[in-house]
Order: sequence, then C-alpha cells, then structure tokens
Amino acid sequence: MPHLLHIQSSPRQQRSASIEVAQAFIDAWTTQRPQASVDTLDVWTTPLPEFDGEALGAKYAALEGTPRSAAQVKVWADIEALGQRFHRADLIVISVPMWNFGIPYRLKHLIDAVSQKDVLFTFDERGLLGLLRGRKAVVVAARGVALGENFPASEFDHQTSYLKMWARMVGISEVHTLEVEKTLFGPEADAASRANGKAQAARLASTI
Ligand SMILES: Cc1cc2nc3c(=O)[nH]c(=O)nc-3n(C[C@H](O)[C@H](O)[C@H](O)COP(=O)(O)O)c2cc1C
Repeated sequence: MPHLLHIQSSPRQQRSASIEVAQAFIDAWTTQRPQASVDTLDVWTTPLPEFDGEALGAKYAALEGTPRSAAQVKVWADIEALGQRFHRADLIVISVPMWNFGIPYRLKHLIDAVSQKDVLFTFDERGLLGLLRGRKAVVVAARGVALGENFPASEFDHQTSYLKMWARMVGISEVHTLEVEKTLFGPEADAASRANGKAQAARLASTI
C-alpha cells in the first residue's frame, strides 16, 4: 500500500500557500491510489526532542562505542520513532515557506533531530550512505518574492537547494519541486500563483 509522509512547515495553516499546493498534490495523488495512506507531520505541533544534553550524549555515546544512560536510551527511542515515520513512506512531501531565503527553524529542528547515523543514513571511511534509498520526494516551496533577476537562485535559494542536499544525504535521488512565488505581491498575484502551483501539482501527481 503506497504511503505518503507530508512534512508541513508553515504555521499559517488555512492561509498557507505551500500547504494549499501540497494538499492539491496529495489529493490528486491519493485519488489515483485509493489504497494510499497519508501521515501528516506538522513541525509546529509535533514534539521535537531538543538536541542538547541527553540527545547529544546519546549520539556521541554510539559514535564512541560507550554505553548510553537510561535517559539517553529514552530520547534516542523518540528519535528512532520519528525516523520510522520517514522509513514507512514511499513518497515524502515537504511543504516549506521561504524564511529569510532559507527554511523555517522548526523544519531545521526536525532535520537536525532525525538525521542521525543508523536512523536516516550511515557512514564509514568510504563515505555517506542514505537509508531512505528508493523513496521519492516532492518539495512544495512558497516565496513572497520570485527568485531570478533581483534574487539569483545561485545566491538566494537556501530553501529548495538545502532540502535537495538533505534528500541526497539520506539517499533520495528523485526530488521534484513545485514553486509558488510572489505570494506577497497582492491578492491577484497570490491567487494566480497558487492556481498555477495547483495545476502543476495535479500534473506531477499523474506522472510521479
Ligand atoms: C519570518 C519570515 C521570513 C520571510 N522571508 C522571506 C524571504 O526571505 N523571501 C521571500 O521571498 N519571502 C519571505 N517571506 C514570505 C513568505 O515566504 C511568504 O509569505 C510565503 O507565502 C510563505 O509560505 P506559506 O504561505 O506557506 O506560509 C517570509 C515570511 C516570514 C514569516
């Protein structure tokens, strides 16, 4: 049964452009796959382990081959449970607003908490091996402005470029991007951009 994980990182809920276009994609994708299941991980409401103290201790204990304390074992079980939500998915959809040309800090928190050795990747002297191989990803990126002339993507895109790098790090080589730009250029430009994004989303859902 196909399973989709939707990582939602806009706190704007019903007003969010990234969630609206991601939802259009998910609706089209699930309509074509009636057996499919969807897990929504909202980074603003999902408890995320702080990555200091016990979590940091647990990580380095494993790297150094020393035993973990009871508190470290517990926090690592929470991290592995979060990692399981990624492993269960055939397709990972990340809806992401651009914040200061990067990603919202809660999404970075999720990535830093869950992207651990033997959870989403492994490594040895030969290099890095992602453990999510075979999965696909769709990044739905919303922006107030448009990348391009005034904001060349090569310098200003720390949103999709970062998430593509992360996908590669965890072994996902097939990453598709849907973009919703100029959401802050007034209601008409916002509506047109969302409509265009949703049309692209429906097309992608039938080909992916
Ligand atoms: C804290 C913050 C920082 C932002 N920084 C940028 C930015 O650097 N570039 C940009 O194009 N838009 C920026 N925006 C605008 C959002 O990207 C825009 O409103 C987008 O529609 C948000 O996605 P959402 O509707 O899914 O929440 C920022 C918005 C917030 C709240």
